[in-house]
Amino acid sequence: MTPVTQAGEAAPAHADGAVLPPLRIGRHVIESPVVLAPMAGITNRAFRRLCREYGNEGRAIGGASGATSLYVSEMITSRALVERTPESMRLIEHDPDENPRSIQLYSVDPATARAAARMLVSEDRADHIDLNFGCPVPKVTRKGGGSALPWKKDLFKAIVGAVVEEGAKRDIPVTVKMRKGIDDVHLTFLDAGLTAEAEGVAAVALHGRTAAQAYSGTADWSAIRMLKETVTSIPVLGNGDIWSAEDALRMVRETGCDGVVVGRGCLGRPWLFTDLAAAFAGTSARVTPTLGEVAETLRTHTAYLCDFYGEEERACRDIRKHIAWYLKGFPAGSTIRNSLALVDSMAALDRLLATLDPDVPWPGEAAEGQRGRAGSSRTVALPDRWLESRELSEEHRRTIAEAELSVSGG
Ligand SMILES: Cc1cc2nc3c(=O)[nH]c(=O)nc-3n(C[C@H](O)[C@H](O)[C@H](O)COP(=O)(O)O)c2cc1C
Repeated sequence: MTPVTQAGEAAPAHADGAVLPPLRIGRHVIESPVVLAPMAGITNRAFRRLCREYGNEGRAIGGASGATSLYVSEMITSRALVERTPESMRLIEHDPDENPRSIQLYSVDPATARAAARMLVSEDRADHIDLNFGCPVPKVTRKGGGSALPWKKDLFKAIVGAVVEEGAKRDIPVTVKMRKGIDDVHLTFLDAGLTAEAEGVAAVALHGRTAAQAYSGTADWSAIRMLKETVTSIPVLGNGDIWSAEDALRMVRETGCDGVVVGRGCLGRPWLFTDLAAAFAGTSARVTPTLGEVAETLRTHTAYLCDFYGEEERACRDIRKHIAWYLKGFPAGSTIRNSLALVDSMAALDRLLATLDPDVPWPGEAAEGQRGRAGSSRTVALPDRWLESRELSEEHRRTIAEAELSVSGG
C-alpha cells in the first residue's frame, strides 16, 4: 500500500530522526517502540505476520530495515501448555522469520507458571515471555486470576519470580502486562510495577483501565505517567485507546512512556503498523487504502489463516469476525457485509470481494476512531472475601487452582 504524506511532521528527538530510542526488552533491541498487544482469538501467527509485514513497510519508509516491532501471541494458559494440548501447541508456533518469538502466558499458580516457562525456554520455543495480569473476564477474575491477581502481592511476586528465573537460564526476558487494578479503590499497578521490577522483569506494560472498567470509558494515560515516574530502571509501555499513529505519539508525549502497546486499533487495520513505524521514525507518511486495497488485505489475512489452521473452512470461520472491522466506514451495503460474515471458502470470498468497487477511497473520519470491544463498567466478580487481605489465604489458594482450567480473552 502506498502511504500518503500528511501535514504536521512528528518532532524528531533522536539523531536518526526517530521519536524515541529503540526499545530494549532484555537482550532484544526493538527498533520501533511498538508492541502488538496480545489478543485472544486475534493475534495468532497469521495476524502477526500481516502486522509484521506492514510494520516492515513503515520501517522502510523511515529509512530503516530489519527487525521492527514486537508482536505478542494471544495468551496461552500455562496449564494447557504444560499438558501440551494440541491447541496450545499450535498457538505457540511462530513463523521462521519472527524475531523475537514472543509468547504470552496466563497463570495463577507459580509452579505451573514455572513449568510452562521451563518448557518454552528449555525447548527453545520463545525469545520473550509476557505475563498476563490484565484479563478482566468474569470467569477469570471470579477465581482470582488475571487482573484480580496482583491484589495478592505474594502470589504475584511468586509467579513473576518463577518465570523470570526460568527465563534467565537462557537469557529470555520476561515482561508483565497489567491493568491499573481491580477498581478505583483497589489499585495495584504501582506496587505491582515495583515488584515486577525487583523480580527482574525486562519491562512492564500498563493498560490504563481497571478491571471494573473492562473496555468502557477512556484509558487513563495519567496512570501510565505515574508508573513511568515510579518504575525507573526498566522500560514502561503504555496501552489503551491508541487508534492512530498520532494517538501513539501523543501517549509518548503525555506519559513519557518508552513504547506503546496497540490492540483494538489494528483490528481490520493491520497497516496501522506501517503508520506507527513511520511515525516513530519521524515521518508523516500514513496509509489510506482504497476499498480495493482493503479487500486485498482481507484476502491475504484469510490466506495466512488457511496456512495457520491448515484448513480453509476454519480460516473462513475465523475471518468472519474481522469483516466489520475491515469495512468500517466504507460504503459497503448490508447484503455484502452479511454474505462476507458467512463466508465458508476462499472461492466464495473471492467472488464476494470482486463485487466491491476497488476505487472507493479511504473514507477518512468514518473509518477512524474506536473499533472492537467497548461495553460498560461493572462490579468485578471476585472470590469471596478476596479484597479483605492482600495476602493469599489457604482457602483462596484452593480457589485459584481452578482458575487456569478454562479461560480465554483478555
Ligand atoms: C479481542 C481481545 C482479546 C484480548 N486478549 C488479550 C490477551 O489474550 N491477553 C492480554 O493480556 N490482553 C488481551 N486483551 C487486551 C489487549 O491486549 C489490550 O490491553 C486492550 O485491548 C487495550 O488496548 P487497546 O485500547 O489498544 O485495545 C484483549 C483485547 C481484546 C479486544
